[in-house]
Amino acid sequence: MADRQRADDPLVIRQLEFVGGMAQAGGWRPEPTLPEIAFAGRSNVGKSSLINTLLRRKKMVRVSNTPGRTREINFFRVNEAFMLVDLPGYGYARVSKEARASWKPLIEGYLRTSPQLRGIVQLVDARHDPTKDDLGMLDFLADTGIPTILVATKTDKLKPRELSARLGELAAVAGVEVEDVLPFSSATGAGRDELAEAMMGLLDQPHWRDVAEAGE
Ligand code: GTP
Ligand code: MG
Repeated sequence: MADRQRADDPLVIRQLEFVGGMAQAGGWRPEPTLPEIAFAGRSNVGKSSLINTLLRRKKMVRVSNTPGRTREINFFRVNEAFMLVDLPGYGYARVSKEARASWKPLIEGYLRTSPQLRGIVQLVDARHDPTKDDLGMLDFLADTGIPTILVATKTDKLKPRELSARLGELAAVAGVEVEDVLPFSSATGAGRDELAEAMMGLLDQPHWRDVAEAGE
């Protein structure tokens, strides 16, 4: 069961608080005192659902019937220890051109300027090839060197055999090993503990910007 807590749960939620939303590049955001992990992916890929599953809350983050729902960058404080950052989904065609154009500076601005950012959980739909925007995002992440956890969502919609073929294809397109693509389903809870563990691993590592600077 998705909601049953295991004795060895890598992420037990003891405290959880919505801190606020950042609406535009350079706008309000919480003081960057805690480490941050951000969640990125195209609109409707299942980001908000995945965060709810991760936090074992049914409705902490609003799940959209209307794609393109999450417009702001939303910050959630977890266990007084780190911040989860829900980025707006990119690439939804039916919102206005202006709204679409404003996402890129907002998301890229956040990713470039957040001193406590420790990593990104990048979501792609397990059923489809990555979109042009997905590939652009993966390139951007590789360029900046931000540690990335690649997650394939909605795996409950595929049969096991289809799923393993799709994971192989996704890994090839993304240029990673297939073991580095984490299958996930908010419908069944599959992948929840593995993702939590991978995130805790990122939080334990020295800051990637410091590592990059030390190597220069
Ligand atoms: P935006 O906020 O619009 O960018 O979307 P999002 O990426 O946050 O997606 P959201 O979590 O709102 O989910 C979009 C739709 O996909 C909803 O109808 C969810 O119920 C559905 N969905 C999300 N995750 C899963 C999953 O693992 N399995 C299945 N079958 N459906 C899912
Ligand atoms: Mg959302």
